[in-house]
Amino acid sequence: MNNRPVLDGESLITPTAMAADVVSRYGASRRDQFATATAELGLILHTAQQWFEGGTDPVQTMRWTVEALHKTRRKLDPAVWRELIPIAQNHPVAAFFHEDPFTRWSFEKNRGYSGDAQLLDFIYQHESILGSATSATPIGRELYAFSKYYPSCVAVRERRDILAQKVDEIADAKGPGTEVLAIAAGHLREAEKSAALRNGRITRWVALDQDPLSVGSVTRDFAGTAVEAIDGSVRGLLTDAQKLGRFDFIYAAGLYDYLTDAVAIRLSRRCMRMLKPNGVLFFANFSPELTDDGYMETFMDWTLLLRSEADMWKIVNGSVDRNSVDADVFFGENRNIVYATIAKRD
Ligand SMILES: C[S@@+](CC[C@H](N)C(=O)[O-])C[C@H]1O[C@@H](n2cnc3c(N)ncnc32)[C@H](O)[C@@H]1O
Repeated sequence: MNNRPVLDGESLITPTAMAADVVSRYGASRRDQFATATAELGLILHTAQQWFEGGTDPVQTMRWTVEALHKTRRKLDPAVWRELIPIAQNHPVAAFFHEDPFTRWSFEKNRGYSGDAQLLDFIYQHESILGSATSATPIGRELYAFSKYYPSCVAVRERRDILAQKVDEIADAKGPGTEVLAIAAGHLREAEKSAALRNGRITRWVALDQDPLSVGSVTRDFAGTAVEAIDGSVRGLLTDAQKLGRFDFIYAAGLYDYLTDAVAIRLSRRCMRMLKPNGVLFFANFSPELTDDGYMETFMDWTLLLRSEADMWKIVNGSVDRNSVDADVFFGENRNIVYATIAKRD
């Protein structure tokens, strides 16, 4: 039976769906590692539980656990690691980590899938989540005060700023009439930072997302601006169901991390066809240099496809004729996120 996940750009973000793909990318299960790995994980979880119960500084416990899970994950075959995840999730220590409102939101998946825009608002420290942050338990507040400064969260905040900068640069270069498309836009928090939007230099900034709650939030927050929120999916783009016109800048952040190479390439090809002359496609992906991957996959139940520079080039090279574009791949400052940019030469 073909048990590969249907990463088709529709409802694709579930850890179970991701797991089959991760295993197929990295190789078959090595059962012989499992007993040792289970014992090692048990020790980590037990130690963290004892520290929480004994009143050790929760931040120290979290920092140590994040690092221990990362080291364990890194040395194991992905299939073995995958089997350990439910053990961590069902351990009593999980209740302590879930006092952190950010970790809990991710784990509980109130919107039915991982990586929703409200989860990102915990990372952005947006005012919309301040209520949950301040009503957390004392341990929860301490944990969130630490977890929001994970390198991955720092990188996501930088990503939001890079997106706003790119939009502004493109609007500066293009002048009036600039049209922008954000795919998987979430709450479009980057637009709050864009001077070009504020100064009326953007004619149209389409924010496409499959989550009606996020579409509603963007419609409300950006009423009266050039932002146009659209309920739509990657599948809709791929099947041409969404007739959106053409753009100077198309970007996706927090999306490619969930797409297989094949879907990522199909989407990139489609986006290139939706660009105006000299238009630019820009997309981001978490990199394998992430250090909180083990914690995310266990206590946050949040699985991502991590991509190296070479993996990003593979998508770029599969999507375009390199003679007709200027392409680049680069890391953000702490290397937790890697970016690809493809500019049409017309
Ligand atoms: C991690 S959030 C990123 C939001 C925003 N781009 C940011 O950087 O803050 C991922 C977003 O992708 C959206 N999404 C996931 N799969 C999608 C799909 N197949 N089509 C459209 N949107 C999708 C989700 O609804 C969610 O809002």
